Amino acid sequence: MIITQLEIKPGSVVIEAGTGSGSLSHALIRCIKPNGHLHTFDFHEHRVSVAKEEFASHGLAKYVTVQQRDVCQNGFGDELNGKADAVFLDLPHPWEAVPHALAAMKNTGEY
Ligand SMILES: C[S@@+](CC[C@H](N)C(=O)[O-])C[C@H]1O[C@@H](n2cnc3c(N)ncnc32)[C@H](O)[C@@H]1O
Repeated sequence: MIITQLEIKPGSVVIEAGTGSGSLSHALIRCIKPNGHLHTFDFHEHRVSVAKEEFASHGLAKYVTVQQRDVCQNGFGDELNGKADAVFLDLPHPWEAVPHALAAMKNTGEY
């Protein structure tokens, strides 16, 4: 449902926060392969390191960038401004990251 609603497809650039178990990340990566990329964020150090290990052990590392960051406080980084086809916020306070999500979205005129 999430993938359908966000119109995610092969080649999409997707931002996700938080990474958590990496379960949704795996579904997103399967959908965006082979030319898309997932940028996934979590502020929890252990979850970030486990997710990195699992993506690598599943042969998916080239499709995903994992960063440890508080996205509500610090956003997704200037380098992602205007780059994302979709942003998915699975956070306790997602509204705090909405301005950052808006900055990260491609300027296609579709919101
Ligand atoms: C509901 S879980 C995400 C579940 C994930 N979608 C999955 O498939 O397992 C929420 C995650 O958001 C992270 N989180 C909460 N607030 C955050 C913030 N401000 N910045 C980054 N990560 C945050 C938590 O550490 C937690 O791992």
